Amino acid sequence: MAQHILVLHGPNLNLLGTREPAVYGRRTLAEIDRRLRQLATEAGAQYASLQSNQEGGLVDRIQAAATDGTDFIIINAAAYTHTSIAIRDALAAVAIQFVEVHLSNVHRRESFRHVSYLSDLAQGVIVGLGAFGYEAAMRYALTA
Ligand code: DQA
Repeated sequence: MAQHILVLHGPNLNLLGTREPAVYGRRTLAEIDRRLRQLATEAGAQYASLQSNQEGGLVDRIQAAATDGTDFIIINAAAYTHTSIAIRDALAAVAIQFVEVHLSNVHRRESFRHVSYLSDLAQGVIVGLGAFGYEAAMRYALTA
């Protein structure tokens, strides 16, 4: 079971709750984070999370995970999923197992969202299940 779980949220996910609710749901990021923290701490794991609108901020946090005890990452890199070789390289460099999450079913959307720079490195990918996808990823982390 993972002991130190890091959850990373990419750009515009700070707007959850009001951002295109028909696509992303009405749960706020704070509500999602609260639930994930609860699941982790109930299981005796450490929980950390970061939302950043900056690619470099996400890269820096992934690099820091190499030395802060993180043994599992749950990441919704949002739009950077489809563009960021830098985030891919950081995840490859730290070699910490991770699950990629997307609230929406990216495969039902525009073709540019069908490409992920992360998926082939991920332990698993969860799309289209809304906030429950994060919870499923957390439950997996707590058994991994
Ligand atoms: C997203 C899907 C991405 O294509 C989009 O850019 C996001 C959110 C999702 O959770 O469904 O910002 O990662």
